[in-house]
Amino acid sequence: DNAGPDRDDPKDQQLEPARVDLTDTRLTTQQGVRVDHTDDSVTVGERGPTLLEDFHAREKITHFDHERIPERVVHARGAGAYGHFQPYDDWLAEYTAARFLTDPARRTPVFVRFSTVAGSRGSADTVRDVRGFATKFYTDEGNYDLVGNNMPVFFIQDGIKFPDFVHAVKPEPHNEIPQAQSAHDTLWDFVAMQPETMHMMMWLMSDRALPRSYRMMQGFGVHTFRLVNARGQGTFVKFHWKPLLGVHSLVWDETQKIAGKDPDYNRRDLWEAIESGQYPEYELGVQLVPESDEFAFDFDLLDATKIIPEEQVPVRPVGRMTLTRNPDNFFAETEQVAFHTANVVPGIDFTNDPLLQARNFSYLDTQLIRLGGPNFAQIPVNRPVAPVTNNQRDGYHQHAIHQGRTSYVKNSLGGGCPAATGEFPEVFSHYQEKVEGHKIRRRSESFKDHYSQATLFWNSMADVERDHIVAAFRFELGKVGERAVRQAVVEHLNQVDHELATRVAAGIGVPAPDQPARPNHGRSSPALSQLNTAMDSV
Ligand code: HEM
Repeated sequence: DNAGPDRDDPKDQQLEPARVDLTDTRLTTQQGVRVDHTDDSVTVGERGPTLLEDFHAREKITHFDHERIPERVVHARGAGAYGHFQPYDDWLAEYTAARFLTDPARRTPVFVRFSTVAGSRGSADTVRDVRGFATKFYTDEGNYDLVGNNMPVFFIQDGIKFPDFVHAVKPEPHNEIPQAQSAHDTLWDFVAMQPETMHMMMWLMSDRALPRSYRMMQGFGVHTFRLVNARGQGTFVKFHWKPLLGVHSLVWDETQKIAGKDPDYNRRDLWEAIESGQYPEYELGVQLVPESDEFAFDFDLLDATKIIPEEQVPVRPVGRMTLTRNPDNFFAETEQVAFHTANVVPGIDFTNDPLLQARNFSYLDTQLIRLGGPNFAQIPVNRPVAPVTNNQRDGYHQHAIHQGRTSYVKNSLGGGCPAATGEFPEVFSHYQEKVEGHKIRRRSESFKDHYSQATLFWNSMADVERDHIVAAFRFELGKVGERAVRQAVVEHLNQVDHELATRVAAGIGVPAPDQPARPNHGRSSPALSQLNTAMDSV
């Protein structure tokens, strides 16, 4: 039985002591001292100055002054929920030692945060944008975070470009306009200059960028990760979430009206569904590629702008996630949750995807400033249910009271200093991949193929989906002031498909290309395409 909240949920039980029950209506200071007044500060006489000695007034105002923390540098706006994940059976044990994926008797608590990418914390939900789909699994072996998006590819191939990309996507620095992701010059200038964005831009201009509900949205780990089985053997893996309600989108006109009427549309939908017992459900699936097939594809598995087509490698179901409980406090939980691609458990490991490698650096780094120092893993939402025993000490906001006089290894004095012992798969051990080479700034040749899979995407679309894509390109590109940028993007679109480029050009005042830049060998059978599920979205 996978439905409904779990009364024995270990994460829920762990959170209990942190919950503050305000049924006691007696007002106190932060020091627990009861006070008789909170409306009038202490003054000298009826018309005199306010006294510094009014510690309650000072504390109350000071605390308020410090209520805000930096919003996330990307994915600032989100909505979260707790739930659990349970595998269907143990078939994946052949490929991974991660027990939360292979023991059907285990129900692993999760926290999921859905988000938009570009907008600020207070921006509207229904903008044209990628959606984040980040899941924290509180496994018995420690936290595993699957920090994915609702699109299976990404804009860039190497994380070193991420600051440039985000600077181009965010509002322009001089006037902070426009807030919406796509309708502006800097994004399209970046796209024109960096054609590796083209596949993702096709997804972004499609109905996938306008999800009707977080309950009706796919999720993707995007990168090729690695599963490692108990014998230490690796297998490449792509992670997929499929919503049991199917994939559904809004149409553009709806998103515009809803953004005005109810900017919290997706957030409200998630909240109300859970409150009313309509628990959102998602199936986790995997595409597996044996290491012997590492070079069997005409793209590189380390290239995050490419999918593995499902007709080549089918998605195999692993288990189901159900979201059953809204957070008690948005700030404490949804705002303070910290996901990190490097939070892995035995049985799941990385690949050398240069985008993933940069992410493995970036998340911890940004959270050190966003959450005020090195102890944010002690914040209730972030705490693993697995015990935390190490020699990391002190720092801002230290909540643990470590016992004993030693905090180092190796140590002959005792005192409970934890030491690294044990063997894989009981403990995490980095996968023993053999690598060699010179220091270079170059990827394999297929990284340069920016168009083939964009064409595959276009070919898999139904007519009405194509109409929506063309309309989106016209709307967004049509707002770009620089004609040269519009023209350059049309040239890239001509590499994707001549008809697409011609139709877009006709709507944005630039000449259509005379002839195709590349041959397009026609629309693939939608039945064969993984992108076929997008048909549901109309
Ligand atoms: C935040 C996904 C690429 C840096 C996020 C979040 C998601 C996400 C879902 C929001 C997490 C939350 O809800 O708290 C992705 C995906 C990527 C990608 C799927 C590509 C496959 C990158 C890259 C970098 C990066 C390349 C940097 C090199 C960040 C940062 C945050 C973030 C700094 C804010 C984290 C925080 O403040 O806690 N990303 N991202 N991302 N991402 Fe990414």
